Amino acid sequence: MSDAPILVLGSSGKLGGAVVRQLRHAGYTIRQATRNPDPSDPAMVRFDWTSPLTWAPAAEGCRQVFLTARPLDVAAAAIVPGFLDECADVGVEHVVFSSSLGTDIQVTGPLGLVESYLRHCGLGWTILRPNFFMENFSHGWLLPQLQSHGRIQLAAGAGRTSFVSVEDVAAAAVTVLADPAARNDVHDLTGGDPMSHTAVAAALTRASGRPINYHEQTVEEMRIAGQRAGLPGGSLEYLLSLYGMVRDGLAARKSDDLRKLLGREARTFDEFAAANADVWRVEATTRHD
Ligand SMILES: NC(=O)c1ccc[n+]([C@@H]2O[C@H](COP(=O)([O-])OP(=O)(O)OC[C@H]3O[C@@H](n4cnc5c(N)ncnc54)[C@H](OP(=O)(O)O)[C@@H]3O)[C@@H](O)[C@H]2O)c1
Repeated sequence: MSDAPILVLGSSGKLGGAVVRQLRHAGYTIRQATRNPDPSDPAMVRFDWTSPLTWAPAAEGCRQVFLTARPLDVAAAAIVPGFLDECADVGVEHVVFSSSLGTDIQVTGPLGLVESYLRHCGLGWTILRPNFFMENFSHGWLLPQLQSHGRIQLAAGAGRTSFVSVEDVAAAAVTVLADPAARNDVHDLTGGDPMSHTAVAAALTRASGRPINYHEQTVEEMRIAGQRAGLPGGSLEYLLSLYGMVRDGLAARKSDDLRKLLGREARTFDEFAAANADVWRVEATTRHD
């Protein structure tokens, strides 16, 4: 195990946070990148995609980087390559990029273009392509609706998704960071049997004991809700295109890659729901329509 710290981007987020916890548990030294570091915590470093001067200092002294782009960043392909060049300049050897399932279909989308750059820029690379996270229902932007109305509102139609837990994606990241033999490869990371959002609502109801429903939005209804929530136009259209893939059944595929990497089955949705049941029992006082 190298003494050099591993730089973790998005370290305050759902996935990056799980990567930090699991790397630390495994005994690695971590450098946590965030726009708002705690000055009293030497493991934290300021990193902002909108401030290129923060990039090289964050990566300096690290041999490996766990990379995520900003969520729904339509400009990722114009920004991330500059950071990868700086990684190479300061001696980084291997970058694990958590991209997204479906980039083999959306090859010219923002994350597909980042993948392509990474594979050809001379750095060692590993690409993880996770499906939609289970934790979007327990920690993300869907939670306020769930807590205030017991409702999941999305333009997902009846499309099914093989949701994956960030805990499994993080475990895959730790594996490829630890094992040079697993590098220079692409791993599609999915959970088990694909579920519709009606089935998700039923699983959350079973786990929490609170009735939870799926309300199927039209694309226009979801667009209006996203505009009201203040999502920038480009990011909103990107999000709508992802749910278009769900409606078209493209998020339903199941991959064996996680089991091959971890030597065990993926966390099931019911296991995730049982572990987080208290979250959906809380009735938020703020109403979100
Ligand atoms: N959610 C899903 O279902 C899903 C599925 C597949 C792939 N992904 C991808 O996985 C990645 C992580 O997703 P997530 O759901 O874990 O994200 P998240 O919980 O929403 O966290 C977002 C992270 O991005 C960081 N961030 C935001 N703006 C930044 C900026 N200007 N500069 C530097 N960092 C910035 C935040 O860090 P600070 O606020 O601390 O700076 C935060 O740690 C994203 O690239 C996402 O597209 C997500």
